[in-house]
Amino acid sequence: MRKPILAANWKMYKTAAEAKEFADQLLSYLQEGASLKQPIQEQVEILVCPPFTALSAFAAATQGTAVAVGGQNLYPRKEGAFTGEVSPLMLKAEGASYVIIGHSERRQILGEADELLNEKVKAALEYGLKPILCVGETLEQRRRGETADFCRGQLAAALAGLDQAVCDTLVVAYEPIWAIGTGESASPQDAQETIALLRQWLAEAYGPAAAAKVRIQYGGSVKPENVAGYLAMPDIDGALIGGAGLQASSFWKMLQAAADLGV
Ligand code: 13P
Repeated sequence: MRKPILAANWKMYKTAAEAKEFADQLLSYLQEGASLKQPIQEQVEILVCPPFTALSAFAAATQGTAVAVGGQNLYPRKEGAFTGEVSPLMLKAEGASYVIIGHSERRQILGEADELLNEKVKAALEYGLKPILCVGETLEQRRRGETADFCRGQLAAALAGLDQAVCDTLVVAYEPIWAIGTGESASPQDAQETIALLRQWLAEAYGPAAAAKVRIQYGGSVKPENVAGYLAMPDIDGALIGGAGLQASSFWKMLQAAADLGV
């Protein structure tokens, strides 16, 4: 049974002080929920990915709790002359256990190509960070019926050269680009259909048992009102949440919705 993972990707929002405030609120919600028969954190993995400048403050505030911390990117070297970049070692040292790789904003705005993303996945694994690999199609690709092929191609490229051991830690996030920050989300059925095809690709590449271990999230305009619809789908194992993950109260509502489903 895969434990669902709800992750807030804060993108370029929040100072360290604001991150600490969010952490305090989230922890107080979690404390309230601790008396439940089955505490939420036992049912859902909770992850927050702050910007680099707020990561260590957030990690310090949540240390020893059920809240995991992730980076939003890394550079695939241990250290070196790479101005403006952050290494997997540094993320790990600040308390991160996950890292988002290949978010469409980085692919589109910063021009990150498949080869570099492949190096990033390998670097994350080498340094013990669990990669959250993002894939997703544009609206034009969807209209042309290319969604599944395109996303499977992104998976194949980012995972090139890796064996089935990657399935022990890999998380995939299916984020259709047209659904990010637009309020227009893919229907749970559409997301399930694509995600099932991604899992099928993983099964062909690594075998069904390995593929069954990989958690695949949906991302794109997920909010408290619609999160349960995604999580009820058999192949959807969580959500990567942008805007609605910026307030602790709304993140908490989504965690509750996941726990209510008993997924
Ligand atoms: P929104 O939830 O704001 O649509 O963003 C999704 C996203 O890109 C998460 O990585």
